Amino acid sequence: MTGTGTFNQYTQPELMQHYDHRPLDKQVALVTGANSGIGEGVARHMAAAGAMTLINCVTHPEAADAIVADIRQAGGQAMSIMADVSKEDQVQAMFAQIVKEHGTVDILVNNAGWQKDAAFPEMTLQQWQAVIDVNLTGQFLCAREAVREFLRRGPRPEVSVALGKIICMSSVHQVIPWGGHVNYASSKGGIKLMMESIAQEMAPQKIRCNAIAPGAIKTPINHAAWATPDAEKDLLTLIPYGRVGVAQDIARAAIWLASDESDYLTGTTMFVDGGMTLYPGFSQGG
Ligand code: BGC
Repeated sequence: MTGTGTFNQYTQPELMQHYDHRPLDKQVALVTGANSGIGEGVARHMAAAGAMTLINCVTHPEAADAIVADIRQAGGQAMSIMADVSKEDQVQAMFAQIVKEHGTVDILVNNAGWQKDAAFPEMTLQQWQAVIDVNLTGQFLCAREAVREFLRRGPRPEVSVALGKIICMSSVHQVIPWGGHVNYASSKGGIKLMMESIAQEMAPQKIRCNAIAPGAIKTPINHAAWATPDAEKDLLTLIPYGRVGVAQDIARAAIWLASDESDYLTGTTMFVDGGMTLYPGFSQGG
């Protein structure tokens, strides 16, 4: 495998080569919020790993279509699909369309999320609600529809040991409190126990539910935090491993969580954060 840079995104043909054993062959994967950032990275890897990949978005369908075209050109399978994950009717219509067109869904990556930051005294109910609706309720709605479909469809031992796999995109802020982002941190804390409770309830049915908690990853959501050398220097004081992450760091973990390689893993959060949750402020003091 030749990378385009040590930790930069690989091109789609390079990714196809990297996953030439196609661990997700014949599986259908839905990645929400996949037209940019971490979602895009995860979707590209899923497709390279052999999955028919549904690239969900709610705005900028042209960005989703460009990713689809790139994946297809490299020999992968992908389609874009529009839905606002915070709206029950749209989520149900999206799953119905996927089942109609692709037979079923095997993997859900609950990724769609956003920030609406404000100092706490100024935070409006609208800012609170907008973040909870997409980041938390959106994950609930998609997970519920995915579980319903896994149960309806029954096992497919020829493609995976599990009945289905759900990966919830959380954040280091499911454990690190985050002033100025009370709505966002609350949504991520909620994802933690939602994910664990789904995992506990659905394990007997062989449905696995895990989460990834990314640290600072270079994407549009946190552009201001790494866009200038000064900002990046500040950010690096929080990251013992000494570099800001890229979407690919998260995507590689997602492929493993979606594959049978992680079959005994459920209810776990993987912190993919360069050590951000290791209290780096204590490395010299305390
Ligand atoms: C947030 C980013 C932030 C990172 C680390 C993520 O969940 O979306 O804005 O840079 O956590 O603080």
